[in-house]
Amino acid sequence: MILKPVYIVFGVSGSGKTTIGNVLAKELDIPFFDADDFHPQSNIQKMSDGYSLDDNDRTPWLSILTDQIKNWHQDKGAVLACSALKIKYREKLESFNSDLIHWIFLDGDYDLILSRLKERKGHFFQSELLTSQFDVLEKPTKGISIKVNQSTTHMVTEIKSKLNVQKSQIGLFGLGVMGKSLAKNILSNNFSLSVYNRHIKEKEVDVAKNFADELTVKPKPFDDLQLFVESLQQPRIIMLMISAGPVIDQVVKDLLPFLNTGDCILDGGNSHYKDTIRREKLLSIEGISFLGVGISGGEEGALKGPSIMPGGTRKGYEQCSNFLEAIAAKDKGNKACCSYIGSEGSGHFVKMIHNGIEYGEMQLLAEIYHLLRHYLEKKPSEIEKIFTSWRTRNKDSYLLEITTDILLKKEGSGYLIDKILDKADQKGTGSWSSISALKTGVPFSTISEAVMVRFLSAKKDERIKASNIYNYEISISSENKAFLLKQLEEAYYAASIINHAIGFDSLKQTSLEYDWNLNLSEIARIWTNGCIIRSDLMEKMAVLLSNDNDTSVLLFPEIVDTMNSHISKLTFVVSNGLQIGCALPVLSAASNYFLNYTSAQMSANMIQAQRDYFGAHKYQRIDKKEGEYFHTDWKN
Ligand code: 6PG
Repeated sequence: MILKPVYIVFGVSGSGKTTIGNVLAKELDIPFFDADDFHPQSNIQKMSDGYSLDDNDRTPWLSILTDQIKNWHQDKGAVLACSALKIKYREKLESFNSDLIHWIFLDGDYDLILSRLKERKGHFFQSELLTSQFDVLEKPTKGISIKVNQSTTHMVTEIKSKLNVQKSQIGLFGLGVMGKSLAKNILSNNFSLSVYNRHIKEKEVDVAKNFADELTVKPKPFDDLQLFVESLQQPRIIMLMISAGPVIDQVVKDLLPFLNTGDCILDGGNSHYKDTIRREKLLSIEGISFLGVGISGGEEGALKGPSIMPGGTRKGYEQCSNFLEAIAAKDKGNKACCSYIGSEGSGHFVKMIHNGIEYGEMQLLAEIYHLLRHYLEKKPSEIEKIFTSWRTRNKDSYLLEITTDILLKKEGSGYLIDKILDKADQKGTGSWSSISALKTGVPFSTISEAVMVRFLSAKKDERIKASNIYNYEISISSENKAFLLKQLEEAYYAASIINHAIGFDSLKQTSLEYDWNLNLSEIARIWTNGCIIRSDLMEKMAVLLSNDNDTSVLLFPEIVDTMNSHISKLTFVVSNGLQIGCALPVLSAASNYFLNYTSAQMSANMIQAQRDYFGAHKYQRIDKKEGEYFHTDWKN
């Protein structure tokens, strides 16, 4: 059983024990008791008759109180107002468990307390007995002392600060890499914080305590769930920083018995938006807000300011907005890269699409690196120079920046990148975004292709086998090499624009499906800093979309100008790259998407004819009204 602390406010009569004890108990959300209420009748009578109590009188009273204290430890804890003037009385009161008793001495001089007592009415203690109380009082050797010549609020605040029992504004659950970084960020923004990490024998022991010990500004550490929840100000804000999946349901279930109506749980992981929709509905029945909070920026972002995408009820968001906006990255205008996304699981949906765009951008850079390294035979340091030059020409991005760092990383005399196994892992968000696009019917070419490439990369053994079986001759003239090299920068930029257009298009379409009313320019704005896909291009997106939330990205006049001058470079790189045997799946997907998107005539007339041929699925005609369907007997 977990024992709770008991706070004993003590001092002579008239020092304010009942007033202070009551307010303190209310703020700590635990019961208040007055020791005078536990006196045997004989003691009350004696005091009313004007006699002071002797030690014999106090013995049964102290025994009653000691028993009560034991019960309170086992229940919710308590605040007790008690004179406890002598050390031996105090020793008796703490005899069950002295570690769990907090002594709070109310220290006032005789004249002040006498004047207070004279103003009191209806109290059985007579002010004349004050002198004897001061004679008996043995000043405390432990606990804290509070001067009584201050306001009640001031005294209670001082008590809480001296005892370190102030309730925390925020609770953070889960101290993995991201959780720890976010906790430091929250503390550096001057929020009081409680942190929780589970206890697993021999595996996760004292994680929260050890973390707090490392820091100068410390959070309150817990490995007991109830105490963690009780350490938080109400209504509570609890941020979960744990892996996505069924574990979130389990944690919510474990937390629920300790929560109250109005509390708010934030899921800061990469949960599937449909799980978030379900959890939000379930918790709203209990009167608890559940926000699905997409957080991007990795470990460094969590520490210095991530991009934050919160979805759920607006009321829930408003409860947490000043905290979330304080810890978020800031855009160029110093506005927080955090904004209310919309209802239900929209925050996690937007984070999922962020990750989809991230997959596309990563693969684009990987493909271009691969082409340069293995087909145009450039050294990593030469590729770094090429990429760095792009950064200076309005194509800077966080992903381009880290790619240049990666290219320069050496291990011994060689480059580390050359030693990394070419099998890409994934945690799920890229695949989820593709599945969701398939379900909604959104063309998702670059992103789903980037997911497929990761899957194909995992078939390493089979690829090695196939590479030994197939032997195709590949050559490229040095003039062609030089020409290909020249087209790369613009080809990359065009593909990147297409990848972004695809991501924003899926936001727009899903927003309509769920009635989320997503503000695309605001989403682009909160993606301009803190997150993995922050870039010069994202800055441009935010501006373009702020003028028009509805137009497709590829139809903005400024983008049309860029694409008109860049598309031939993209198609040249793709066709020549393929010709020399270099797979360029996302560059190709981008080209094909764009060529089809900009075609008044696609190949789908043939698909419709084929469907009608074998399945009588019918087709529409260009020479008839839209919506009118026809079937042909194709064999006769
Ligand atoms: C971010 C990232 C992050 C993601 C990792 C790994 O925005 O900070 O998107 O949330 O988990 O990038 O994702 P994969 O393992 O699927 O590549």
